[in-house]
Parts: sequence; structure tokens; C-alpha cells
Amino acid sequence: MYVCSCFGITEEQVQEHAAAGACTPRQIASASKAGTDCGSCVRRIQGILGRGQCPRRAALDRGESPLTTQQPSTATTPEPAEVAAMAAQAPAPAAAARVAA
Ligand code: FES
Repeated sequence: MYVCSCFGITEEQVQEHAAAGACTPRQIASASKAGTDCGSCVRRIQGILGRGQCPRRAALDRGESPLTTQQPSTATTPEPAEVAAMAAQAPAPAAAARVAA
């Protein structure tokens, strides 16, 4: 079901963005544009987000600044196979030098 008719954003898409870490209507807007035109869907988006497990919101609820709260790192260590694939795609130093010359 559509939540944002201006951009054709569904409730499922909002939930996917929320599962990926968006926990405010503004973050949903950054990810999907939902709520950035007429704005009539913002309350609905807020309702979908609810009062879930948002680290920044939890910090606010504790009276802490969300900007100084340590956020979980989203960086992941690549698997050895991914490292090998990246190395295979990178040009060899001699080939890179020929391209630059
Ligand atoms: S319905 Fe979402 S911005 Fe208009």
C-alpha cells in the first residue's frame, strides 16, 4: 500500500529503509524522497517508524545528546574472497603507469 503518493513509496519500502537504519521521517526522506513534496505522508511515515530501536532516539530518551552518542559502525570487514576480487579488478602497478603516461 502506498504511503507517499507523490513519489510512489510503499509501506514496505519505508519498513525496508527503517530496517536499514533510517529511524526518522527525515532519514526516510533522504533515502526515498518520501515526504519531501506535499508532506501529507509524514505523519503516516512517523507512525510506521513508531518508537522502535533507534540509537539516536534512545539517546534522546535518556537525555543524552544524540550527536555524541557512539553509533554502531556500519563498516564491515570484507571477506577474503571479496578482497581477492577487488585485487583482481585493480590494475597492476605497471599497467597503471602505462595508462598514466
Ligand atoms: S504524499 Fe508524500 S510527499 Fe506527498
